Amino acid sequence: MLKVLVTGGGGQLAQCIKSVAGLYPKLKFTYKTSSELDITNKDEVESTFNFQAFDYCINCAAYTNVDKAESEKELAYKINVLGPKYLAETCSKHQVTLIHVSTDFVFDGNASKPYKETDSTNPIGVYGKTKLEGEQQIINTIKNHFIIRTSWLYSEFGNNFLKTMLRLADQRDELGVVGDQIGSPTYAIDLAVVIVELIESKNNAYGVYHYSNKGVISWYDFAKEIFRLNQSNIQLNKIGTKDYPTPAKRPKYSVLDTSKISQILDKKTLNWKDSLVVAISKL
Ligand SMILES: NC(=O)c1ccc[n+]([C@@H]2O[C@H](COP(=O)([O-])OP(=O)(O)OC[C@H]3O[C@@H](n4cnc5c(N)ncnc54)[C@H](OP(=O)(O)O)[C@@H]3O)[C@@H](O)[C@H]2O)c1
Repeated sequence: MLKVLVTGGGGQLAQCIKSVAGLYPKLKFTYKTSSELDITNKDEVESTFNFQAFDYCINCAAYTNVDKAESEKELAYKINVLGPKYLAETCSKHQVTLIHVSTDFVFDGNASKPYKETDSTNPIGVYGKTKLEGEQQIINTIKNHFIIRTSWLYSEFGNNFLKTMLRLADQRDELGVVGDQIGSPTYAIDLAVVIVELIESKNNAYGVYHYSNKGVISWYDFAKEIFRLNQSNIQLNKIGTKDYPTPAKRPKYSVLDTSKISQILDKKTLNWKDSLVVAISKL
């Protein structure tokens, strides 16, 4: 039986892993919330791995508030850079494979075709910069690592775009959503399955991977489909990024090329519309 530690155990992705874990009886998962294991505390990280043996660690812990990161640089750095560094050092010492989750925000969004893992990174905000530096700490510290960059995560768990749209549909008659930022939504349950299958496959093609659902849309398109499926009567208006100023800049285009992970897992990526139907049925 493979033993897997999941950090950031209370977050969206960790809860998705928990909800699919029962389908994989050969894996034994241990979840640690931020209060049980603070990844920025080196001693706590070390004692967790000294106390219990693991084969894999999935790092779901992160500072994920993109806008707040602009004014909380130090905290974002601690969680997204130092935390992964401590995990990488400790995993390396204990021969544990580290699976780390990263983001499309490592790119500047100026591309016009899907980003490959080998494309140059150039984050445009604090969140993306710290996530990129976290990746680099891992790459420089531990050979046995998988870094999976994903985009537009949503699910029935935690706070995310799907849940925000459904809440606003109950509260408002009209809503503007940006139509000039393009990407691919990712149902966090689909990502959880990919991560768990990667572990089960015992694959050792370590490195950086991209994973999202299939399809290229705007946030407006995403909201439109959410309201259609939910039969919401809200009036949805397409607005521009300039009409919705935020503290952090967003990439205009953040589509990820997912062919590398599809190849190693011999698995097709699921279409965003099909996954959205499943997610809405769970709410
Ligand atoms: N959400 C997206 O749209 C998106 C898109 C692309 C990539 N990603 C990446 O996907 C991963 C998972 O995201 P998510 O949506 O599951 O995020 P999330 O729901 O915000 O979960 C992050 C978790 O990390 C925990 N955490 C924060 N600081 C910690 C610390 N020092 N030690 C241990 N745990 C700590 C948080 O706990 P508390 O709540 O107790 O602080 C929270 O449970 C992240 O790496 C994120 O960067 C997300």
